Amino acid sequence: MEAVISKLSLFSLLVIVAASIDDEFMYNGFRESDLHLDGISDISPDGLLRMTNTTKNQQGHAFHKMPLLFKNRDGNPNSFSTTFVFAIHSEREDVSGQGLALVLSPTRGLPGAPPIQYLGLFNPGNNGNSSNHVIAVEFDTIFNIEFGDIDNNHVGIDVNGLRSIAAAPASYYAGEAAGYKNFSLFRGETIQVWVEYDSLDMKFNVTISPITTVTKPSFPLLSSTINLSSVIYDTMYVGFSSSSGSVITSHYVLGWSFKMSGQAPALNLSALPSLPPRNQMKNSTTRTTSLILELSFAVVLFVLVMLISIGFLVKRKMRFKEVLEDWEIEYRPHRFSYKDLYKATKGFRNEEVLGVGGFGRVYRGKLPTSKVDVAVKRVITHDSKHATREFIAEIVSVGRLCHRNLVQLLGYCRRNGELLLVYEFMSNGSLDKFLFTDTWPTKVNWRQRFQIIRGVASGLFYLHEEWEQVVLHRDIKAGNVLLDGEMNGKLGDFGLSRLYDHGSDPRTTHVVGTMGYIAPELTRTGRTTPSTDVFAFGVFMLEMACGRRPIEQQASPESLNLVDWVRRCWRRGCITDSRDPKLGDDFKMQELELVLKLGLICSHPLPAVRPSMRQVLCFLDGDLPVPELSMDFLDEKASSLDIPSISSSFASSAVFKEQSSGREPLLQEENQSYYVQ
Ligand SMILES: *[C@@H]1O[C@H](CO)[C@@H](O)[C@H](O)[C@H]1NC(C)=O
Ligand SMILES: *[C@@H]1O[C@H](CO)[C@@H](O)[C@H](O)[C@H]1NC(C)=O
Ligand SMILES: *[C@@H]1O[C@H](CO)[C@@H](O)[C@H](O)[C@H]1NC(C)=O
Ligand SMILES: *[C@@H]1O[C@H](CO)[C@@H](O)[C@H](O)[C@H]1NC(C)=O
Ligand SMILES: *[C@@H]1O[C@H](CO)[C@@H](O)[C@H](O)[C@H]1NC(C)=O
Ligand SMILES: *[C@@H]1O[C@H](CO)[C@@H](O)[C@H](O)[C@H]1NC(C)=O
Repeated sequence: MEAVISKLSLFSLLVIVAASIDDEFMYNGFRESDLHLDGISDISPDGLLRMTNTTKNQQGHAFHKMPLLFKNRDGNPNSFSTTFVFAIHSEREDVSGQGLALVLSPTRGLPGAPPIQYLGLFNPGNNGNSSNHVIAVEFDTIFNIEFGDIDNNHVGIDVNGLRSIAAAPASYYAGEAAGYKNFSLFRGETIQVWVEYDSLDMKFNVTISPITTVTKPSFPLLSSTINLSSVIYDTMYVGFSSSSGSVITSHYVLGWSFKMSGQAPALNLSALPSLPPRNQMKNSTTRTTSLILELSFAVVLFVLVMLISIGFLVKRKMRFKEVLEDWEIEYRPHRFSYKDLYKATKGFRNEEVLGVGGFGRVYRGKLPTSKVDVAVKRVITHDSKHATREFIAEIVSVGRLCHRNLVQLLGYCRRNGELLLVYEFMSNGSLDKFLFTDTWPTKVNWRQRFQIIRGVASGLFYLHEEWEQVVLHRDIKAGNVLLDGEMNGKLGDFGLSRLYDHGSDPRTTHVVGTMGYIAPELTRTGRTTPSTDVFAFGVFMLEMACGRRPIEQQASPESLNLVDWVRRCWRRGCITDSRDPKLGDDFKMQELELVLKLGLICSHPLPAVRPSMRQVLCFLDGDLPVPELSMDFLDEKASSLDIPSISSSFASSAVFKEQSSGREPLLQEENQSYYVQ
């Protein structure tokens, strides 16, 4: 009886002692908890227990600070019950870092336990050694063959070592029909765990379920019979252990309750701290990778954009590339930028081509800033630099020429092998279009023709005599006479032929000019003089009067050559018969005769016989009577007959006045002056 009492009193004493040792607790979040943390574990300000942060290969422990009395006075293990909520966030969908374990341990920490696959529980030296006195429930997310793991997503009961005495894939009993349902421990699911031990039947039950199922599944996932008496000490610490591995993973515990010898109080699930959003966690873990990805993408994009724009700029630069050399600086005011000309001609479109001449294409254009209409002649040059340089010096001088019967050269631009000359725009184009088309009546009537002849003569006179230097045109023909809106004729293209003259020996090579307009002495000497220009002008006058080209291949042999044909008509005494039939009756006989006769005189084979342009103007204006041509006029031997009488008046004195003024012919290579015959 006494023994019974003492037993009872001892029992009650033990109960009191046991009660004094904490045997029940509940944490709905760990804000006000009294946990012992080590390793990389921490508690966030809102009470979330984070067992591992994103630092790799580390471990973390969190233990209830006070030891618990796990054995009764008989030395037999107590029943106990505990429940907790956890979540594992892995940076990757398919794999996780190490798992998490609930631990009963004789000490508050687990010193010497390496991280990684040992879950922060054991080390290679003590793993499986019964002297450990550790019991754990592992939530293992790594498939370790060395520990006999079943897969990478299982729950196991470990006694003194990581080789589980019982294990099962993470799943929960979802009712009779559904059976056990698998789910992932590490895909961010918030999971509730119940661990219960019944000391009577020594059943160690582990039940898990996603928190979303709300109620505890009616059957445990693991139920093992374990005689804990030799495993556990009287007092044990209870807590969590976790370790991070090479895959960045965070292990969270949200709430936890425990009760010795009874049912652990249910957690208030709505009071648990909230987890960081998984995508944010994912962000934080994959931030670097995604950042690197984004950055490299941005860099690649940037480099691409740079390359494309550089390519574009280079292309653009190449497109608008022009040649500007030092010596050209002084001509700068006369230079156009290629870009402007490119824009003006809409990129030298074929639609803008006004005509194709011997030197290249002529494009119509509108200057981008001034909106002035221009004609851009694109001359392909194959010349040496020296020749181009001389030519530019000349054209710039030519650009200073200003006469209402000369097409104004506005400037130039130079590129590799290409020269662009910018002229005023002549809206009616070249005269030959009007002159040689078979429209009836003619598109240019006699009055207009005479006016054009007069204008061209005046322009040529300006070139030869009125300007500060003698300029030779070298290619006078209907095709080089351009018409403005009022059908005023203007001479264009002067001096261009010179460009093609360069580098060639004048004695041996081709003669510049156009067939039918070339004075006979030019083919012999290769020397252009004002007189050769006058010859061509004479032919031009005949063209205007007769409305046909100087050499008409389709014509009968006797009228093949225009000059010969007009001569023949003149010899027959009917020079006006050679007139352009398209003129009809609308002409002045006197003017027509004058033009035809003057044309013959100017195109005389002997240069000495040809008048100067000054004289030509006088004849055209009626200031001098046209000399009567004798029958042997065209006889070269007797050709000096009438002409000296012309030049003996004021004309020859004019010639010698020029000579004394020391003017040098500009567009002439020879040092020898033209007027020294
Ligand atoms: C993880 O926790 C440890 C210990 O508190 C700390 O030194 C480390 O900087 C933390 N790492 C990160 C990524 O927060
Ligand atoms: C278990 O650990 C104890 C103490 O650390 C040691 O003496 C014993 O040799 C170990 N047993 C085995 C099998 O490793
Ligand atoms: C659950 O997972 C285990 C192991 O991965 C597998 O053997 C079992 O068939 C799965 N059960 C269901 C219902 O998918
Ligand atoms: C453990 O699980 C078994 C099987 O479901 C059950 O019979 C037993 O009552 C459970 N024990 C505890 C303490 O929950
Ligand atoms: C449990 O183990 C202890 C010591 O190993 C032993 O004394 C006890 O009888 C065992 N209990 C049962 C129910 O087998
Ligand atoms: C559970 O927590 C919520 C929020 O903190 C609180 O409003 C509620 O009263 C709690 N329920 C119980 C049963 O304590």
